Amino acid sequence: FGVDSVASISDFERYAKDCLSLVAWAYFSTGADSEDSLSENAAAYTRVFFRPRIMRNVQGVDASTEILGYKSSIPVYVSPTARNGWGNPEGEVAVAKGAGAGGILQVLSHYASRSLEEVKAAAREGQEIGWQLYLSPDREKSAQAVRDAVAAGAHSIWITADTTILGKREVERRMLAEATPTPNGKPLTRTPVVYSNHELNMSWDDINWVKKLAPGLPVVIKGVGAWEDVEEAYKAGADAVVLSNHGGRQLNFAEAPLKTLADVNKFAPQVLGQERFSIFVDGGIRHGTDVLKAVCLGARGVGLGRPFIYAATGWGAEGVEKAIMILREEIEIGMALLGVTKLDQLGPQYVDTSKL
Ligand code: FNR
Repeated sequence: FGVDSVASISDFERYAKDCLSLVAWAYFSTGADSEDSLSENAAAYTRVFFRPRIMRNVQGVDASTEILGYKSSIPVYVSPTARNGWGNPEGEVAVAKGAGAGGILQVLSHYASRSLEEVKAAAREGQEIGWQLYLSPDREKSAQAVRDAVAAGAHSIWITADTTILGKREVERRMLAEATPTPNGKPLTRTPVVYSNHELNMSWDDINWVKKLAPGLPVVIKGVGAWEDVEEAYKAGADAVVLSNHGGRQLNFAEAPLKTLADVNKFAPQVLGQERFSIFVDGGIRHGTDVLKAVCLGARGVGLGRPFIYAATGWGAEGVEKAIMILREEIEIGMALLGVTKLDQLGPQYVDTSKL
């Protein structure tokens, strides 16, 4: 298929499934336990409806914004995902080229297939790359990793806090087991990962610990699943949080990030709309309307994980750029039909969350 045949973000997944090895498909697509958070992430968006306004001038819709000081064409960034090289040999370098062409921020995983140096080398003039950190109990090792990221020109440090222990990915295990050729044959396995080696003793003081290692860079806490921890992160000096359940791969039945965002509106509205503090959301976002629902509830931007892996799997940088174009078209259509021309005109009055 040519990339022109892709009409929506979900199409990338259908096409990628046919191209990926079983091991890669099992790793990318699955979630924890019986995958309830994975499905709920997307389902939550289907329970929020718009209250569009009409008879307005909607010429010149502009979906651009700033994400941690970086000018972004749309309120979307690339969430950090490990081992993009399993989908496309160019891996995160292909994603960087596509993100650069589409004008959005890419956050590189601690477990990326390509180094931050390689990704930066593929980036265009002025293009920024964030870097995600998994804290290790060997703090000197983590400190060095942060210093290296700073030296390589990271735009921001995203500390992932929801993966102290790896979630139990039973669907992945089953897919691999079922592919075993004979009952007693050697099962297909994936290369062992270092996930089991993460810091179990994290605290809010770790924000300052990272800030000292990365002076002047925004520090983001990724994996917030309750409005109380949004307040904690704000008080502890984080520049931003990502409401996320890791794409349903960690704690099954962790609530949908859209629900957490609605709770922030209800119980901690004072942290919304702050100059020094941004709220991002990821998980299950597949349409421009999903992006707009999150923005209406106060998200500064949203992250997509799997869709960019799948886009790069089939078509490399071109696929990633196409994914951004699709989102941009959908966001612009949505804005015009909601009756706004700028993102900051959106607010909770545009959505009905009563069924969320
Ligand atoms: C992830 N995610 C993730 N997060 C992180 O902080 N570091 C990582 O290395 C990874 N790796 C990773 C691999 C794969 C295959 C997936 C699917 C996800 C989580 C990711 O950043 C994000 O939270 C989710 O992917 C968002 O959900 P969607 O967009 O995939 O539905």
